Amino acid sequence: MTVHIGAAPGQIAETVLMPGDPYRAKWAAETFLENAELVNEVRGMLGFTGTWKGNRVTIQGSGMGMPSLSIYANELITTYGAQTLIRIGSCGGMQPYVGIRDVIIAMTSTTITSPSSGFFKEINYAPCADYGLLAAAVNAAQAKGTRTHVGGIYSSDVFYAERADLDEQMVRHGILAVEMEAAELYTLAARHGRRALAVLTVSDHLQTGEALPSEDREKTFGVMVEIALEAAFA
Ligand code: HPA
Repeated sequence: MTVHIGAAPGQIAETVLMPGDPYRAKWAAETFLENAELVNEVRGMLGFTGTWKGNRVTIQGSGMGMPSLSIYANELITTYGAQTLIRIGSCGGMQPYVGIRDVIIAMTSTTITSPSSGFFKEINYAPCADYGLLAAAVNAAQAKGTRTHVGGIYSSDVFYAERADLDEQMVRHGILAVEMEAAELYTLAARHGRRALAVLTVSDHLQTGEALPSEDREKTFGVMVEIALEAAFA
């Protein structure tokens, strides 16, 4: 047990999928895993462990934002020995050619600040995905015929952003989408020698104002979960 995860040692798999939303963790575990068992409910941040095609997998909610994800990822890595951590979640499209429902596979993530900024001091560290996971996820997405974009994203501290000029620079520099967790996950994985990736679904678009209708969400998010599972065990 850790401060924020109530699972017993051994109840967490080496491969962990991390949606922001604990109820999406429940849905994904019930939909994709066999023999899914609830392993955490501290603060309602649900986590489940089961098997996918015979492989043990944990799906643990991370909460929203890098400080919350940092708590869960740190505990999963240092106490439970998680080796592969894949964020699954939604993002806001930033380029005109990025459409609602498209899948984004994040090579790298830009931030202004993250929980690690304090100790990086003057270093502008470039958080980077594990290449093996990234390549496997791209293969899985292509095999499904899913519209997919691979490149840089932006991990923001705010959903309700007040700095249009920042978004403008991100768009100008080719950033595909904005979300709030990946950069810190990549940084923690690098620090501890683990593998990390973020596979995201575009749920809204910053320029067009379009948003995924709620009835479409489950089906669209399911594709992303499958891509993450296939990448983890490729
Ligand atoms: N901003 C930040 N995070 C997000 C967004 C957004 O527009 N959409 C989904 N996650």
